[in-house]
Amino acid sequence: MNDLCAHMSKADIIVGIQWGDEGKGRVVDLYAADYDVVARFGGGDNAGHQIKVGDVDIALRIVPSGVLNPRTELFIGGGTVINPHGLLDELDRLAAIGVDVSRVKISDRAHLVLPYHAAQDRTNERARGAGAIGTTGRGIGPAYVDKAARNGITFGEFARRESLAERIRVNLLHRAASLEGENLPSESDLVASTLDAAERLAPHVVDGVAYIHEKLESDKRVLIEGAQGSLLDVGYGTYPYVTSSHTIAGGACVGLGIGPTAVGRVVGVVKAYCTRVGAGPFPSELLDALGERLRAAGGEFGTVTGRPRRCGWFDAVAGRYAVRLNGLDALALTKLDVLCGFERIGIVTGYRLRGQAVDFSAAGAPGLEVVVEEFEGWEQPLGAARSVAALPQAARRYIARVEEILARPVELVSVGRERNELVRLR
Ligand code: IMP
Ligand code: MG
Repeated sequence: MNDLCAHMSKADIIVGIQWGDEGKGRVVDLYAADYDVVARFGGGDNAGHQIKVGDVDIALRIVPSGVLNPRTELFIGGGTVINPHGLLDELDRLAAIGVDVSRVKISDRAHLVLPYHAAQDRTNERARGAGAIGTTGRGIGPAYVDKAARNGITFGEFARRESLAERIRVNLLHRAASLEGENLPSESDLVASTLDAAERLAPHVVDGVAYIHEKLESDKRVLIEGAQGSLLDVGYGTYPYVTSSHTIAGGACVGLGIGPTAVGRVVGVVKAYCTRVGAGPFPSELLDALGERLRAAGGEFGTVTGRPRRCGWFDAVAGRYAVRLNGLDALALTKLDVLCGFERIGIVTGYRLRGQAVDFSAAGAPGLEVVVEEFEGWEQPLGAARSVAALPQAARRYIARVEEILARPVELVSVGRERNELVRLR
């Protein structure tokens, strides 16, 4: 028994612990240097991971963020939903800047996102009216609905031409009535373009379960990359204002077909303040000039949709909740430099409802009030700092307080947009 286990390496997980856009891509890019495989386990091209290398800005949607490490294989796991043409475009853009995209592998269990999913997403949002979620409009939710309803098309099936055409036909038929008024491609166009994409992507498709387990069994180091954030998890986020997949660390097991015993460390990426795109509860949101200032300083506009992100102070109540959901070992704190120049910086340390202290589960309750702890800010830009000692005292105090409230060590702090603008604490 022990002998068998001894040859298995464990996969480490990096997840965002807020509402996405914590800077996971950046953190994964850094950690990836020590890994043989970087794997995505959920979501689709609703994600937008930005990595900046010199003058090149790379916006990844579905390809894992380990892409800049030439030796790292990039695995898109079975829990994801993939728009085949979107992926082909992304691969073409990466190939154009010299990336060897043959390293990208796609699980045969991953599901397709087709144009009728995006049309359904738009239709659903219109029907929700004032209660619209503010989805990315990429068809992610409807693709997961199809998966659960057993109407989805997997990449395994995508490779079999005969059945694919029939399945697309049936799916279009199912939807024809509900999608009236939407501009959908004809059945023959959709089948032809999907078959074309299938042919081009076929060399990337692998048996996803065999793939990941053979890596672990041969002692390869696997880094698992989350998408979106913990508070957008379909089960534990601010439902119904969430995405349609399990974004928390547990989702990695399901999304890759591995057991919890195959997981090593779990690192949570936390931005030094909070942002959210789309509708839904956001207790620490700043609707005043401070929020505007955070948005401008942090460049907080959506990678996928270009929407301005809602901004607010770091929410430690939400943070503690996410520490639990993910079983975090450690934290990576991003965008600390954005707080530079603020005279006072806030951390939300508590929620109160009608005078009573309440937990994150009360996040959407009318009349919820937040308790803000205020810190003195700092003027000194952080970009040049490479050690804790080089950080201003006020910034060090802020980091220490985050560690204290979340009861987890911060092992990395990002202090600028460049790849090397980082401080390692441990
Ligand atoms: P969907 O995932 O497109 O269905 O969108 C559902 C909610 O999740 C919306 O509020 C989106 O703005 C949000 N969302 C989805 N993906 C991301 C992401 O990668 N970063 C931030 N928010 C996201
Ligand atoms: Mg993003």
